Amino acid sequence: MTNDTAITVGIVTMSDRSFREEREDLSGPEIRKWAEREGHRVVRMEIIPDEYNAIRKKLLELCEEGVELILTTGGTGFAPSDVTPEATLAVVERQAPGFAEAMRSASLKITPHAMLSRAAAGIRGKTLIINLPGSPKAVRENLAIIEKAIPHAVDLLRNVVSDCGSISASQ
Ligand code: MTE
Repeated sequence: MTNDTAITVGIVTMSDRSFREEREDLSGPEIRKWAEREGHRVVRMEIIPDEYNAIRKKLLELCEEGVELILTTGGTGFAPSDVTPEATLAVVERQAPGFAEAMRSASLKITPHAMLSRAAAGIRGKTLIINLPGSPKAVRENLAIIEKAIPHAVDLLRNVVSDCGSISASQ
């Protein structure tokens, strides 16, 4: 049975090597596993190269389709090819910095390398886009940090929340 109220999720892996099928994408499937466990509905899974225009175009396409939550993985670091945050910020109309702030802050308790992720997040129309770092481990850790805030964020974008104060993150 399909759940009509389930959050629709698009997963976009940024990796030149996975795009060329030289390396198996483990992070996209890791996000899918998480999404299914949370009761969300994965409607798209994409692997694209680390290229600004390709990323921008793919994000716009998924927003256009009305995907409610786009989770990207990879390309948030310092390598010259890491341009996911720039492409994301070019697409969003409003930034949602709380997600990246929370991920970096909580991840610093796990690894000092957390400060090397330049992940961004924001909103285009009714779509929330969140960048995650590239490794499956980082994906798992970062999703665990933000997962409780996602349903309320999507409800706000759906415009179905009448009273924020009555909803706790544990619900
Ligand atoms: N955050 C968590 N929680 N766990 C991790 O293992 N890896 C870091 C960081 N954030 C990591 C993390 C590392 S090593 C890098 S270089 C940056 O994310 C950027 O990763 P990316 O370039 O694969 O996006």
